[in-house]
Amino acid sequence: MTGRTSLTIVLAAGEGTRMRSSLPKVLHQVAGQSLLAHVLAAAPRGAGASLAVVVGPDHQAVADEAVRARSDASTFIQRERLGTAHAVLAARDAIAAGADDLLVAFGDTPLISAATFERLRAPLQAGAALAVLGFRAADPTGYGRLLVEGHQLVAIREHADATAAERAIDLCNAGVMAFDGKTALKVIEAIGKANSKGEYYLTDAVEVVRSLGLKAAVIETGEDEVRGINTKAQLAQAEAIMQTRLRNAALEAGVTLIAPETVHLAADTSFGQNVTIEPFVVIGPGVSIADDAVIHAFSHVVQAAIGRNASIGPYARLRPGTSVGEGARIGNFVETKAAILEAGVKVNHLTYIGDTHIGAGANIGAGTITCNYDGFNKHKTTIGAGAFVGSNSSLVAPVRIGAGAYIGSGSVITRDVPDDALAVERSPLITKDGWANRFRDIKMRDKKK
Ligand code: UD1
Ligand code: MG
Repeated sequence: MTGRTSLTIVLAAGEGTRMRSSLPKVLHQVAGQSLLAHVLAAAPRGAGASLAVVVGPDHQAVADEAVRARSDASTFIQRERLGTAHAVLAARDAIAAGADDLLVAFGDTPLISAATFERLRAPLQAGAALAVLGFRAADPTGYGRLLVEGHQLVAIREHADATAAERAIDLCNAGVMAFDGKTALKVIEAIGKANSKGEYYLTDAVEVVRSLGLKAAVIETGEDEVRGINTKAQLAQAEAIMQTRLRNAALEAGVTLIAPETVHLAADTSFGQNVTIEPFVVIGPGVSIADDAVIHAFSHVVQAAIGRNASIGPYARLRPGTSVGEGARIGNFVETKAAILEAGVKVNHLTYIGDTHIGAGANIGAGTITCNYDGFNKHKTTIGAGAFVGSNSSLVAPVRIGAGAYIGSGSVITRDVPDDALAVERSPLITKDGWANRFRDIKMRDKKK
C-alpha cells in the first residue's frame, strides 16, 4: 500500500498435537513448501514492510524456517502459551518500532494471498482502528463469530463462549487482522484476562477498540483462502486446493497439461514457454523447466533445472542437483543426482548418473551405472564432450572419461580414459563351431534311451 509502512506478525507458536506428528505444525508442507513459508510469502514485503514471527520456546527449527523463507524476518519467542494476544506482545519490540499498519496472521493458514493482506489494510487508511478478515464458513463450528451491527463490527465471540443465537452466525474470524499502528499497542495491551480458558484473546481487541470510541471493520474473503490446518485431513485438503491453483496458474501461463488433475506441482515451479507435461508427473520443490521442454508421463523431478527443448522420461527420476542442458534427452528408468548434463547429452535407458558431469553431445548407453559411492564417500565421474559409453558399463568413481572416447559395452572402468581412446574391459569371447549341433545330438540320444 503506497505510502504506509507495515509490520506483519505471524503467530507460529503452539503445538499441533492433532497432527499426531513429531514435526511442529507449521513445518508441515503444502506443495513442497512449509505452511509457514506460504504465509510469509504472502505477507507484505519490500521498502517500508517488516516482518516478525512468534515461535514457541522449543522450536528453533520454526525460527530457522522463518528466516530461510524470508531473510528479512525477525523472530520472537513466546515463552508461555497464553493466547493469541499474548503471542502478539512477544513481538513488542517490533511493534514499538512504529509502523503505520500492524498486520497479524497465523502460521497455519497457508492459502492466504498477498492481495488479501493488502485489501485488509484499506479500511485503516479510511480511518478504522482495526480491520478483521472474515469468511462465510460452511461449518462454523470452532471458529470465532463476527458480530456485526449495521456496517460495524462490534465483537468477535469465540465458539466456546457463544450463545446458541451467536453460533447460528456463519460469518467467522479468519484470524488475520490489521491494526492502525497509532493505537495498536494500546489496544492489545488493554486486552484483559476475560475468558474461560484464562487466555488473552486477540479477538477481544474488537471490544477494546469500540470502548475507546474507535471503529472496527470486516473485510470478507472466501473460505478456501483461510482454512486453518489442525489435522492431517485438513492438510490434505489444503494441498488439493493449492494444487488446483498451481495447475490453473500453469495452464494460464501456457503450459500444456494433458491431464492436469494427475500432475503434482510445487509452489516454486518455474516454466518457460511451450512446456508440455504429460500425465502422472510429480514435480517437487526447486524445479525450473525451460522453453519447449517435455516431461513425459510418470516422471519424478526434484531440485532440477531442465533446459530448453529437453526431453525427460517417461519414468525418469531427476533428483536434487540435476541440470539438463538444451536439447538433452533423459529416457525411461533413468535416475540422476547431482548431475550436470550439457547440451545434447543422451541418457536414454535404464541408467544411474550420480555426482557426474557429462560434456555436450555425449551418449550414455543403456544400463550404464556411475558407481559413485564406496560405502563411505561419494566420488565424481567426469565424461567428456562427445564421448560414447557402451551399454551395461560401470564407471567406478572417481574416474574421468576423455572427450570423444569410446567405452566398450559391459566394461568396468576403474581408471581414467584419455580423450578419443577406446577402453574395453571384458573377458575374451570363446566361440566353438558346431558345438550346438553336437550338444543337441547327445541330448536327443539320451532322451530316446
Ligand atoms: C483462532 C481465533 C478464532 C478464529 C480462528 C481461525 C482467537 C482467540 N481465536 O482460534 O476467532 O476463528 O483462529 O482459525 O484468536 N498461537 C500462539 N500462541 C498462543 C496461542 C496461539 O502463537 O498462545 C498461535 C497458534 O500457533 C496459531 C494461532 O495463534 O497459529 C491461532 O491459535 P489457535 O489455537 O489455532 O486458535 P483457534 O482456536 O483456531
Ligand atoms: Mg487454529
